[in-house]
Amino acid sequence: MYWKSVVAITTLAAAVQAVEKKAASSAAKSSSAAPKSTAAAAAPSTPSSATNPLAITIPSIPQTTSYDPTVECQSYTVPGLTIDPKEWPTIWETATSNGMNTSAEFTQLYNSIDWTKAPAAPVRKATAAGGLDFAGYDANNDPDCWWSSSLCTIPKAKDVNADIYRCEEPETWGLTYDDGPNCSHNAFMDFLQQQNLKASMFYIGSNVLDWPYGAMRGLKDGHHIADHTWSHQLMTTLTNQEVLAELYYTQKAIKLVTGVTPKYWRPAFGDVDDRVRYIATQLNLTAVIWNLDTDDWAAGNSVPENTVEQTYQDFITMGTNGTFATSGNIVLTHEIDNTTMALAMKYLPQIKQAYKNVLDVATCNNITQPYMESAVTVTPFGAANASTSAGAAASGASGASGVAPAASGSAAPSSSAKSGASSLTAPASLLALVALAVFAQ
Ligand SMILES: *[C@@H]1O[C@H](CO)[C@@H](O)[C@H](O)[C@H]1NC(C)=O
Ligand SMILES: *[C@@H]1O[C@H](CO)[C@@H](O)[C@H](O)[C@H]1NC(C)=O
Ligand SMILES: *[C@@H]1O[C@H](CO)[C@@H](O)[C@H](O)[C@H]1NC(C)=O
Ligand SMILES: *[C@@H]1O[C@H](CO)[C@@H](O)[C@H](O)[C@H]1NC(C)=O
Ligand SMILES: *[C@@H]1O[C@H](CO)[C@@H](O)[C@H](O)[C@H]1NC(C)=O
Ligand SMILES: *[C@@H]1O[C@H](CO)[C@@H](O)[C@H](O)[C@H]1NC(C)=O
Ligand SMILES: *[C@@H]1O[C@H](CO)[C@@H](O)[C@H](O)[C@H]1NC(C)=O
Ligand SMILES: [Zn+2]
Repeated sequence: MYWKSVVAITTLAAAVQAVEKKAASSAAKSSSAAPKSTAAAAAPSTPSSATNPLAITIPSIPQTTSYDPTVECQSYTVPGLTIDPKEWPTIWETATSNGMNTSAEFTQLYNSIDWTKAPAAPVRKATAAGGLDFAGYDANNDPDCWWSSSLCTIPKAKDVNADIYRCEEPETWGLTYDDGPNCSHNAFMDFLQQQNLKASMFYIGSNVLDWPYGAMRGLKDGHHIADHTWSHQLMTTLTNQEVLAELYYTQKAIKLVTGVTPKYWRPAFGDVDDRVRYIATQLNLTAVIWNLDTDDWAAGNSVPENTVEQTYQDFITMGTNGTFATSGNIVLTHEIDNTTMALAMKYLPQIKQAYKNVLDVATCNNITQPYMESAVTVTPFGAANASTSAGAAASGASGASGVAPAASGSAAPSSSAKSGASSLTAPASLLALVALAVFAQ
């Protein structure tokens, strides 16, 4: 297991490079996209926004309607949404950049945290190749619940949110897309809408400010929006200050653009340990990992495309052969580029046939309040008119059916958000599946 983890991590270097290449080209294309801001420095726990998340409107402009990536990816400004570059980290750089770590806002947030309670896990080192250096880590005892080393999801430290790594509902495919919003996603988003599918969308803060209509569409269509850090780095290699900034400025960007502040996040490459989890917990964030990995981001690059297609087919088979009879999966897939979105569109019809439910992670785990703002809620699984794949298809509901205004004064069941996080250790068979998925290549 540990040896295999090390092997898996060697693929990180390629991943980091791939993302950085994309980042560089994206930043170059859109550096002029940053509009001006009115958003005064917000109180740390409640970033501000002019967007009403229940009444998002997106104009029909070529960038929001075309299926031609060149047209879709032309930068634009959003009337009324002003982003002052002075108030934000540099796009695609560590979120302490541009003086953010010395701003009054960030200093106040940083000082509000009790660092004496932070787990003492060291800041990890990256190898020359860009992967993680595991030298000196006690992998057998895994004292820091370091997922990259052990796939650990239940913290060893106290008062730290446990990771969610599967849908608790049986025979359920947990639909997740990372690294968006991608400017060229119109065909993909239209497809999900036509298929009445809702996904958990893990958005990169830099992409959210570059492509605000992309993020607005995600929320408007009823997807579950979550935080995927500002600049997509190995989180355990960052200092406390950097980890805090990566998470906080992404929450703030998503709030500014969509009007909601995510309570769920996903570490890039799954790289999380108890120190990072503690910092996320201070922002009320819970990590969402996965138990099946398609490696779709690598398709056609470090992994042949038909290897990824075979992986998709194996995961589809698992929907009918009893693998998920007692609890479901969460599958790692990406919105990162045309290849990954095309693979999703190709296989989703088969996935829907093979699995009883295809759901975002909030719905499949009865997380009714995935955001700080209680006005935006998710219908629990199994409730009347819940957005199960069958129910949603039958209802022919609009794209926003998965997100509804809370009945005024109604409180979400406080236990529901914990249902996924408090489950016991992953059965060995599931860990084996993870291993299979991660190490298939
Ligand atoms: C976390 O949630 C609690 C309870 O909802 C709230 O009081 C607190 O302000 C939140 N903290 C942050 C940093 O958002
Ligand atoms: C802020 O971050 C920069 C690196 O981005 C670092 O050099 C500097 O020491 C940090 N400042 C404080 C006050 O922590
Ligand atoms: C289900 O299918 C998967 C993928 O083909 C396979 O690895 C697994 O062993 C099968 N499980 C059962 C119980 O047949
Ligand atoms: C978005 O997708 C396009 C391909 O459709 C790709 O070229 C581009 O790099 C992606 N952008 C980001 C920021 O990932
Ligand atoms: C994107 O993928 C679609 C298949 O869904 C293909 O028809 C199209 O040519 C691709 N576009 C680019 C720019 O690669
Ligand atoms: C979700 O809530 C429904 C009732 O609304 C219940 O039937 C179901 O078992 C719950 N599922 C999970 C995973 O908590
Ligand atoms: C469920 O949907 C049906 C038909 O679309 C509607 O008549 C009913 O009021 C809905 N029930 C709830 C609880 O929303
Ligand atoms: Zn990612």
